[in-house]
Amino acid sequence: MNESLFRRAELVLPGGVNSPVRAFKAVGGIPKFISHAEGCRLTDVDGVSYVDYVGSWGPMILGHNHRVIREAVELAAAKGLSYGAPCRAEVELAELMTSLVPGLEMLRMTSSGTEAVMSALRVARYVTGRCKLIKFEGCYHGHSDAMLVKAGSGALTLGTADSGGVPESAAALTLSANYNDLGSVEKLLDANRGEVAAVIVEPAAANMGVVAPAAGFLKGLRELCSIHGTLLIFDEVITGFRLSPGGAAEKYAVTPDLYAFGKIIGGGLPAGAFGASREIMSCVAPLGEVYQAGTLSGNPIAMAAGLAQLRYLAEHREVYGYIDAYAEKLARGLAEIFRGKAAVNRVGSLLTVFFTSRSVDSYSAAKASSAEDYAAFFHAMLDCGFYLPPSRFEAWFAGAAHGEFELSATLEAAQRFARSGALR
Ligand SMILES: Cc1ncc(COP(=O)(O)O)c(C=O)c1O
Repeated sequence: MNESLFRRAELVLPGGVNSPVRAFKAVGGIPKFISHAEGCRLTDVDGVSYVDYVGSWGPMILGHNHRVIREAVELAAAKGLSYGAPCRAEVELAELMTSLVPGLEMLRMTSSGTEAVMSALRVARYVTGRCKLIKFEGCYHGHSDAMLVKAGSGALTLGTADSGGVPESAAALTLSANYNDLGSVEKLLDANRGEVAAVIVEPAAANMGVVAPAAGFLKGLRELCSIHGTLLIFDEVITGFRLSPGGAAEKYAVTPDLYAFGKIIGGGLPAGAFGASREIMSCVAPLGEVYQAGTLSGNPIAMAAGLAQLRYLAEHREVYGYIDAYAEKLARGLAEIFRGKAAVNRVGSLLTVFFTSRSVDSYSAAKASSAEDYAAFFHAMLDCGFYLPPSRFEAWFAGAAHGEFELSATLEAAQRFARSGALR
């Protein structure tokens, strides 16, 4: 059934998918069409079940179909699906988010991380009166024109880092620096003095595979931005409410000027947000002159799901220790299995296996890892019932539903692959 569904999908959806990285292009083969998901497991339309390390690319930190979130959604759905007018849940979610995240006083909900980033950049440009932006090669910030320059994630996987259809004039305003290389940022800021509105960064990179910020990197960015009157934007679409209750800003004790969020704040439904101090956010319409809007922004069902998930996380902070420990044991086990053949990077509950004998602390090192070895690993694991990200440039997401059984089963399957001689 899976294959016939894919053939039908190919006729009506580009590549048979609604988001490129789902297409298995980087690893070969046909994507799995999922019929249902529960806990840490996905089941495909042929009835095959997999231990899921993708977690819908981040939102499902508590596992699939979590009772608390499902009940909140059911309760909200019984009261109508969308109002196009304010509702209580969006206020409560915003209050909870501002209570958890350092320096976040006011925010605007969106329907995706892409929109959140795009709008945060608009705010930065307005507040500074400048046009240029600095991003890091291999970081992904959604698919708005300005951010499809040297982008990571699916764009990197498909080798179309500079997307077709993006006018040169839009791309020309985006300068790209090297992640973990403060000198490259300083050079750009010096050469474009008084012109750079914002430096946007994934505080822990997760779209070139997981690459941790080097010691002092984020603090250095903070200082450089302050010196140059440039706003620092943390794209916490992945890291927000995952690396700690207050995200990467809390974990690394660096407070940016602006934030973008997504994924976890929707509990599995479409939601994003951008926010900052009250002073900065006062420029957003209808308070100020920066226009930003959305028919389904703050949708009552998405807000109910996000609120239930964030409340649960805020009240069960032991989840953070649990998922980090799970990922730590998994990463340590994988590093032992692939000693000398792979670098296993981990930040909190995020990890990536790069097939390379070198350590990976930069985008260029990530790119130098073997695509063929990763594809072989991916398929061997899939055949054994483990759903890994179908690209070496994506993170594995550990969640609260993964347990000791999954941990040892994953490591045993990886061990079998390592012994099979399939690695070059
Ligand atoms: C760091 C980061 N920013 C922004 C986005 C875009 O979010 P969305 O896919 O919800 O538009 C993503 C998506 O994966 C992301 O990882």
